Amino acid sequence: TDNSLTLGIESSCDETSVAILRGGREILANVISTQIPIHQKFGGVVPEIASRKHIVNIMPVLDEALHKANVTLKDIDRIAVAYGPGLVGALLVGVSAAKTLAFALDKPLIGVNHLEGHIFANFLSTPELQPPFMALVVSGGHTSLVHVKDYNHFSLIGQTRDDAAGEAFDKVARVMGLPYPGGPQIDKLAKEGNPDAIDFPMALNEKGNYEFSFSGLKSAVLNYLNNMKAKHIEINKADVAASFQKSVVNILVHKAVEAARQTNMTKLVLAGGVAANSSLEGHLQKACKENGLEFYYPSKILCTDNAAMIACRGYYQAQAGDFADSNLNAIPYLEL
Ligand code: KG4
Ligand code: ZN
Repeated sequence: TDNSLTLGIESSCDETSVAILRGGREILANVISTQIPIHQKFGGVVPEIASRKHIVNIMPVLDEALHKANVTLKDIDRIAVAYGPGLVGALLVGVSAAKTLAFALDKPLIGVNHLEGHIFANFLSTPELQPPFMALVVSGGHTSLVHVKDYNHFSLIGQTRDDAAGEAFDKVARVMGLPYPGGPQIDKLAKEGNPDAIDFPMALNEKGNYEFSFSGLKSAVLNYLNNMKAKHIEINKADVAASFQKSVVNILVHKAVEAARQTNMTKLVLAGGVAANSSLEGHLQKACKENGLEFYYPSKILCTDNAAMIACRGYYQAQAGDFADSNLNAIPYLEL
């Protein structure tokens, strides 16, 4: 067995996280310091505040991770860091810390694509999971269908033309007066609402189209709310949440299953912050069963941003000799 230790660093948005993995899949520590309460006051992430908080948090989080794992820096075999996509100032804090550690310890540095990290969270939740599979990555910044051919070969099947699924959740929540981040709030509220109460649109719903679009849906919700307000009709927020969520979930489930079938995959893997949505998980589970697909999704804590998923991705890159140079930089719009 492989007892090597990978240190992972994640700072792409509003979570400062450091993790230590033994081998490719055993989490010794996964410390996550979230800034959500700080950004809540502003209704969303304020990039400059995020950067400033990362620089304050990064060393205590590293220290705590080493303590939890009961190891010292000398025991670490490689350093993996998310270098994009994300907020540039936020990413730079993690990248800078990782480069310094790699240089001081004379250990290999690995630059990890944050989106690939989200997919790899599944290898931590399900240790027996192996590629190939179809992955649906749904986060605050991305909505993508990715054909994972093996540990180091991916092909993008389709992505969103405009807003990401999580972004749609957050924006709709915001206009409904719910706090940031909106996804968990809508998820909760929707449980008390009727998903068939309001007919919201499902964009790009034609067969063979693996692109997504959520900006029209967001506008439809906004128009509905404005209309009701103009007519002085009281809004049932739970119904709005449930109907909006149904639209998002239906389109995600439909396209993900189609993409898996079209590529002859037998497994469908869910990833990203929106994977924590209870309705999405439930409907995908059901659709996979009906279509003879095995369904996998990460545990809740591994769905949203964390460094364990970055370390896991980094481990498999190291196996393939995919290391970064000391000139590694943050790439805010890094693609898969
Ligand atoms: O992956 P993530 O932590 O950060 C990015 O890489 O973007 O995803 C955060 C997104 C936010 O938009 C948040 O509202 C959404 O995931 N989210 C959810 C739920 N939990 C988090 N969306 C819907 N239902 C949830 N339960
Ligand atoms: Zn993320």
